[in-house]
Amino acid sequence: MRLLKNLTSLRQWRNQQTHSVALVPTMGNLHDGHLALVKRAQQHADIVVVSIFVNPMQFGANEDLDNYPRTLEQDVQALESLGVNAVFTPQVSDVYPRGLDVQTRVEVPEVGDILCGASRPGHFVGVATIVCKLFNMVQPDVAVFGEKDFQQLQIIRLMTLDLSLPVTIIGEPTKRESSGLALSSRNGYLSGQQRQQATAIYSTLQGISKQLSEKPNFNQTVKWAEQQLHDAGLVTDYVAIRNAEDLQPATIQDKQWVALVAAKLGNTRLIDNLTIVNNHA
Ligand code: PAF
Repeated sequence: MRLLKNLTSLRQWRNQQTHSVALVPTMGNLHDGHLALVKRAQQHADIVVVSIFVNPMQFGANEDLDNYPRTLEQDVQALESLGVNAVFTPQVSDVYPRGLDVQTRVEVPEVGDILCGASRPGHFVGVATIVCKLFNMVQPDVAVFGEKDFQQLQIIRLMTLDLSLPVTIIGEPTKRESSGLALSSRNGYLSGQQRQQATAIYSTLQGISKQLSEKPNFNQTVKWAEQQLHDAGLVTDYVAIRNAEDLQPATIQDKQWVALVAAKLGNTRLIDNLTIVNNHA
């Protein structure tokens, strides 16, 4: 496995590749969810590159950039044992050579401004900008992202379409613990008790799915879900039921809905979602 620590070595390596390339962009602290993305990437291309870069541009001033878990040695070992071809670990100065303040930005309007975009201003500009840059650096044929970050995935799909980027975007279903808790690097911040409380997120999403399958009443179901999360001791940022394609408010005509939750336990903000086929349309 090649360790590519800067853009020059990445470009030299990339120029030598004659087969299809898949990229799995990550911020490191890899768990089984990331490893599932890698396995999916291996099904779609001959060569797999994983990038590990904790992207400062997608963190707000009051967010956890400095404390974000960095576990490079273990990450590299895990990727090596999966047979990954290359790991790209650029420095901030390599990615943002002119500095963050003057960096050209990529903004995906509308879908980037709602839900997590409303709660975390600038977050999706940071995500779209780094993913666009990684695509330009690595020049992959395919890139794989987790469906756990559902809004991020839709934004990346739209950015790729809008900017005519020659990359096929693949979404990989969310990996969960047996309790239903979605795997996330942020789970590491949770105490044992919080981990137990956090299972209310998935059970609430399942409850939403059941209610909508029986009798869709979006407002009532959202209210019910907020109460469930509150009763479990979570502080809800949002519960939303949206059209799964454009994330606009759900209607009874939509083919597929997505229920999305963002909620806090202490200082840890967790997100999760569940897609629901509309069997009433
Ligand atoms: O989902 C993530 O880990 C990050 O948002 C990503 C896509 C690697 C961009 O920094």
